[in-house]
Amino acid sequence: MTLTLDNLDARYHALFELLGPRKAQVLAFKDYIERETSWLTAPASTRFHLNIERGLLLHSVGVTCNALSIRSLLAPNIPDESVVIAALFHDLGKVGYPGKPYYLRNDVQWEVTKRGKTYKVNPEATTMNLAVRSLYLISNRVELTEDEAQAIVAHDGIYPVSGGVNNLDYHHRECRLQMLVHFADKWTAAVDEEGRT
Ligand SMILES: [Fe+2]
Ligand SMILES: [Fe+2]
Repeated sequence: MTLTLDNLDARYHALFELLGPRKAQVLAFKDYIERETSWLTAPASTRFHLNIERGLLLHSVGVTCNALSIRSLLAPNIPDESVVIAALFHDLGKVGYPGKPYYLRNDVQWEVTKRGKTYKVNPEATTMNLAVRSLYLISNRVELTEDEAQAIVAHDGIYPVSGGVNNLDYHHRECRLQMLVHFADKWTAAVDEEGRT
């Protein structure tokens, strides 16, 4: 069944039923980010994919469902719990910080209508790589395995950035969970969200 804003809540809550020994920790963390951050309302970007309210949650749940499917095919011995934690929270850094959202509604009307830039970055949010902020937010509240931490912080994989290549230091040293989350992220954004055929 296709993931939409209508079935998002049900699919989101169902993921927490897959948790194992860390279920209580993760549920407390879920409660915390739902109360203290923009997790339930944030977009996934300012002007590209899912730049809509709840876009981040839609993307995160979509990536998690696809990562679980790939895992079942290729790596059935990686537990549900690890896939859910790494995939669901890989982009959590996009919420910004507690009480300080990363994305704000763009009030410059011509940028919204002409450029589709529906959100802007909050200038008050301390600059930090988004994946590192995901790790920052989760790691002092949920005990992560080394593979989960690598999967979150290196989920983008390698791509060119101004002045070099992102994540080159993980090259040939990616754990299986990182590769699952990375590919699920890429596939979800390109195929499910942007309709690549
Ligand atoms: Fe990301
Ligand atoms: Fe992502």
